[in-house]
Amino acid sequence: SAAEKGGYDYFMLKEIAEQPKAVADTLLGRIDAGGSLTLDELRIPDAVLREAHKVVVVACGTAFHAGLIAKYAIEHWTRIPCEVELASEFRYRDPILDHRTLVIAISQSGETMDTLMALRHAREQGARVLAVCNTNGSTIPRESDGVLYTHAGPEVAVASTKAFLTQLVAVYLLALYLGQVRGTKWGDEIRAVVKDLARIAEDVERVLETMEPVRELARSLADKDTVLFLGRHVGYPVALEGALKLKELAYMHAEGFAAGELKHGPIALIEQDLPVVVVVPSPRGRSVLHDKIVSNIQEIRARGARTIVIAEEGDEAVVPYADHLIRIPATPVLLQPMVSTVPLQVFACELATARGNEVDQPRNLAKSVTVE
Ligand code: AGP
Repeated sequence: SAAEKGGYDYFMLKEIAEQPKAVADTLLGRIDAGGSLTLDELRIPDAVLREAHKVVVVACGTAFHAGLIAKYAIEHWTRIPCEVELASEFRYRDPILDHRTLVIAISQSGETMDTLMALRHAREQGARVLAVCNTNGSTIPRESDGVLYTHAGPEVAVASTKAFLTQLVAVYLLALYLGQVRGTKWGDEIRAVVKDLARIAEDVERVLETMEPVRELARSLADKDTVLFLGRHVGYPVALEGALKLKELAYMHAEGFAAGELKHGPIALIEQDLPVVVVVPSPRGRSVLHDKIVSNIQEIRARGARTIVIAEEGDEAVVPYADHLIRIPATPVLLQPMVSTVPLQVFACELATARGNEVDQPRNLAKSVTVE
């Protein structure tokens, strides 16, 4: 009913708008006054976390994209090697697991069969499994050794939005916590990131306030057949997520690429007026990547692409090459996906509406996939 949707036309719009609260709720009570993390609810002893020599993330769809992003954070902050695998592929290739392997199973519903089978396989091999889940008491956390709940609240729309952002928050908390218990040399950086995380809800709020031009742009592209998405570093999984959203909601051909791969093939797809969304890394921090992606934008634009550029406020280098410029607040490099994903959600939702599609219940899809 309209009341359930809180005055929005679709649950998806309501859930996009709820993201600042979902993010804040997922952080709530997990950072103490001194800026340290307290994740007592994990149920996995610190001694076990200290011993872990490998992290493996398993998940499907949007949750898998959260896992791909988590890898950058986990490896950077903990120096523990991290693999990310589609849950549906994982157990069929005889993965190498032991009691010092920490498996993180990410699932909004907690009922995804592929993810459940992957975690069962991991536990049979002696690995410890930690669930990141949004649904209290669901099967995946029940069958795991420990759980860190995301507090997004119920997500009704089939296309995941607020659950994704809170999955990022949760896996980042986990990564930082792993760093904390292991006493990595990133101590000061970890404390700084915890502070930045506490501010991210406000950044998401600011993005939401500036989405009208994105909706307008989406409507103008309603009769296109294909949209490509490019990103690099943590922006690469964001590109994959932007493409998945467009497939699910707008039923358009959409593909995400690592920008560095462009010249290894995908650039052949570029033709006159093809919309290409580019997620631009921060010009601060890893600025080498920023410069490389700016030349990618130049290359595709020279071949006729219509460039839709998502870039930090204050990033002036992209301006001459952006047919459409979507601004996001400047965040630390690893936190950028929490703000850069939001315009892509709005973009896909508006395109779906413009094409007359059912936003909350896209054709052929179920909210949770409980068969293999
Ligand atoms: C997200 O928009 C999709 N509906 C889908 O990819 C989903 O993320 C995937 O099926 C995993 O679901 P889960 O998080 O409930 O395990």
